[in-house]
Amino acid sequence: MGAISAFPLQFCFAVMATALLITPAQANHPHWGETVPYHSPPEKMTKLHFYLHDNLIGSNQTGFRIAEAAITNSSSTFFGATFMVDDPLTEGPDPNSPLVGRAQGLFGASGMNETSLIMGLSLVFTADKKFNGSTISVFTRNAVTYTEREFSIVGGTGFFRFARGFISAKTYWTNGFNSIIEWTCTVVHN
Ligand SMILES: *[C@@H]1O[C@H](CO)[C@@H](O)[C@H](O)[C@H]1NC(C)=O
Ligand SMILES: *[C@@H]1O[C@H](CO)[C@@H](O)[C@H](O)[C@H]1NC(C)=O
Ligand SMILES: *[C@@H]1O[C@H](CO)[C@@H](O)[C@H](O)[C@H]1NC(C)=O
Ligand SMILES: *[C@@H]1O[C@H](CO)[C@@H](O)[C@H](O)[C@H]1NC(C)=O
Repeated sequence: MGAISAFPLQFCFAVMATALLITPAQANHPHWGETVPYHSPPEKMTKLHFYLHDNLIGSNQTGFRIAEAAITNSSSTFFGATFMVDDPLTEGPDPNSPLVGRAQGLFGASGMNETSLIMGLSLVFTADKKFNGSTISVFTRNAVTYTEREFSIVGGTGFFRFARGFISAKTYWTNGFNSIIEWTCTVVHN
């Protein structure tokens, strides 16, 4: 009987002790997450122009199918087919023109009744000291059946910290499996 009636009192003490330990300052500013005012430096705009070579077949294959849905093979749009790519980016449309970087990541067929892709790519630049090692993150819909389309830039690293912007993409050449795409990027960054 005594043990049962003592329980609520112990519980109250426990709640009071917890309330005293967590001060309002700690609740708002955990030691692992500090928030301070941010004054953005003047932003710059960089324009980049290059060609992406995406080869799903042939001796220079740079993209491989890694996953699919049960309906993919019977779907007119290959819905669910997912590819991992490591595509070279070159200065000109010729695959042998100077390399500026690579587009690495995933794309998947995301249109049920229309052929379109969802792309999550990291562009890593390797060519010029100014851009070498910096990346641009692209997460976007790609309406591949249109010759001209627009992609979104959602972030970046290095030279392209705080990046946002867009890419005008234009199919330069394709045979349905292998493509050369002209990319014109407009990037705003710190
Ligand atoms: C779909 O087709 C691909 C390519 O022909 C084949 O590798 C794969 O096994 C097929 N998948 C199914 C689920 O039938
Ligand atoms: C593969 O790439 C090399 C070097 O870029 C090029 O010379 C060759 O023509 C390409 N082969 C094919 C089949 O596209
Ligand atoms: C695709 O087309 C089918 C048949 O016309 C329709 O039932 C379905 O709702 C459509 N799906 C989408 C995502 O538009
Ligand atoms: C780019 O960076 C890598 C790694 O630091 C280095 O090996 C390479 O020489 C650099 N290239 C240029 C063009 O700066």
